[in-house]
Amino acid sequence: MEKLDLTTPNFTDENIQKLSELFPNCVTESSDGKVIDFDALKQELSNNIVEGNKERYQLTWPGKAESLVTANTPINKTLRPNREESKDFDNSENLYIEGDNLEVLKLLQETYLGKIKMIYIDPPYNTGKDFVYKDNFTQNKAEYDEESGNVDEEGGRLVSNPDSNGRYHSDWLSMMYPRLKLARNLLKDDGVIFISIDDNEVGSLRKICDEVFGVRSFVSEFVWKSRQNKDNRNATGVSVDHEHVVVYCKDPSFRSVRGAARNLQQYTNPDSDHRGRWASGNMVGLLPQDQRPNCHYDLVNPVTGINYGKPNMGWRYDSNTMDRLIVENRILWPSNPGGRPRRKKFLSELTDEYTGFSSIVGKDIYTRHGTVELDNIFNDKYFDFPKPSALIKIFVEQSSGKDGSVLDFFSGSATTAHAVMQLNAEDGGNRKFIMVQIPETTDEKSEACKEGYKTIAEIGKERIRRAGEKIKEDNADKDGIDELDVGFRVLKVDSSNMKEVYFSPDNTQQSNLLDLASNIKDGRTEEDLLFMVLLDWGIDLSVKIERREVAGKTVYFADDDYLAACFEDNLDEGFVKSLVAQNPLKVVFRDNGFANDSVKINVEQIFKQADIEVKVI
Ligand SMILES: C[S@@+](CC[C@H](N)C(=O)[O-])C[C@H]1O[C@@H](n2cnc3c(N)ncnc32)[C@H](O)[C@@H]1O
Repeated sequence: MEKLDLTTPNFTDENIQKLSELFPNCVTESSDGKVIDFDALKQELSNNIVEGNKERYQLTWPGKAESLVTANTPINKTLRPNREESKDFDNSENLYIEGDNLEVLKLLQETYLGKIKMIYIDPPYNTGKDFVYKDNFTQNKAEYDEESGNVDEEGGRLVSNPDSNGRYHSDWLSMMYPRLKLARNLLKDDGVIFISIDDNEVGSLRKICDEVFGVRSFVSEFVWKSRQNKDNRNATGVSVDHEHVVVYCKDPSFRSVRGAARNLQQYTNPDSDHRGRWASGNMVGLLPQDQRPNCHYDLVNPVTGINYGKPNMGWRYDSNTMDRLIVENRILWPSNPGGRPRRKKFLSELTDEYTGFSSIVGKDIYTRHGTVELDNIFNDKYFDFPKPSALIKIFVEQSSGKDGSVLDFFSGSATTAHAVMQLNAEDGGNRKFIMVQIPETTDEKSEACKEGYKTIAEIGKERIRRAGEKIKEDNADKDGIDELDVGFRVLKVDSSNMKEVYFSPDNTQQSNLLDLASNIKDGRTEEDLLFMVLLDWGIDLSVKIERREVAGKTVYFADDDYLAACFEDNLDEGFVKSLVAQNPLKVVFRDNGFANDSVKINVEQIFKQADIEVKVI
């Protein structure tokens, strides 16, 4: 029987495969297997004869190539569910994932490939005081210990990145680049990513985003006036009162933001026009006479004979169109010859409910609102500079549709989850969130730590619990508020559930055989195994999970009858026949879960006949 793979995909191999489909002549063999012949590839992509490296337009930094390898290197970790820390585990479709986001993004590649409608991230800004996660796992222990730095709960390294560090910008770019590459894979074709950033790295961020998403996928660089009162401490004399939110899309042929809601109240019907409510629109042109000569003419009311002349930029329509508008009685003529005729725009003829969304965002929403909001939730200061949920809500509303999945993989105090729940409560949407946060330890002297919140992830989870209840309370009179999903499933990155023998059976030594009777690590639960299988089979991690007894064995059914998983021992043909009667599409067992080898062989046949896909771990 085929074994589940249980490692994230090897993107390098996949990339070579894709290129080889396009340029089969550029693939060659080496002692490591298939490799690309870059000289041949360069030549394929050039009309001229290629002579070695030429200068070209690109952003590069020491460590860029390594960070690309980091993005492509597979890992064999897993996500373990944690019921105790979850809220409404069985019914919620939201996820809270604890771990380094690079690993999480890799683990999500199969399941969420092309499924995320919107990503919002607020990464460390590289101010010289931030902690940046060090992805270099190849350092030896001595080098590792030498680095001053904080250690997260899993023993990973969050190292401070002071601006005195010679690789100050490079380290930050090396941290962001692989994460953005992996994040892009998760976006739907009409998906959009919003990235908060300040002046320090906005330039380099735009450049790596151009590379990762494509220049044509640039949507906007929003400016948010984040500071209400001036900062007079800056040596340059400038009070930097804004931040940026850089926006890129997956595919520029889709509209990225919904647009601002029109003010429909301006549509009235004071003259009882039979065509219904209308608003008046400006008809002054936009281009000078030499560029639009046909729009430069005197406009005369054919009934009164009043000549309104022509504005400097002419009219918006040529004279033929204007004649039609006049005949159709769509022009508002001022009684004063010095006035400007305008046109009637009818509500019933609006083709788009929304108007352009300003690139200046978050009017009257300031950083301090985020601080006050979180302080109120915890009755104390637990986290520095959370974003105001009202700001994130604007982005979610603009780009997630009404039921899209929203991912934040630098989620901090989980403001994005708060914004998603709030917006769903307001507009009846059914958006889901996926928060990712490394269990970065809180400062021992901080109020959060003293109150028992040892990691930022603990603050984030508690914030969602409290904010969700408050949102329900505040909207208690709304229809359907009881169905609002304010729960979340907690999943934590951990080493694989499988012993090393699963991945490299050839390395097994005779002396270890007894220990390896089971290929599953001690302490791993059936639910751990189930989630590992969901991940590997690319099944949504928020699917409904049901435990049923089948012929005396516990079977987990995921997404109704899509997948049936049984990790018990002594499975016999009788059990398998009962399971087949439940009509699952896919089934999974433990490799050594069968009563004996002949059962295993028969079982494979039974499933084949029933057209059910079967795998073992
Ligand atoms: C600027 S904060 C985000 C704040 C958030 N927008 C809020 O409103 O609370 C960045 C967060 O990313 C987290 N972080 C940094 N490196 C990470 C990594 N490699 N994986 C996951 N989270 C990380 C930090 O712990 C920090 O909480």
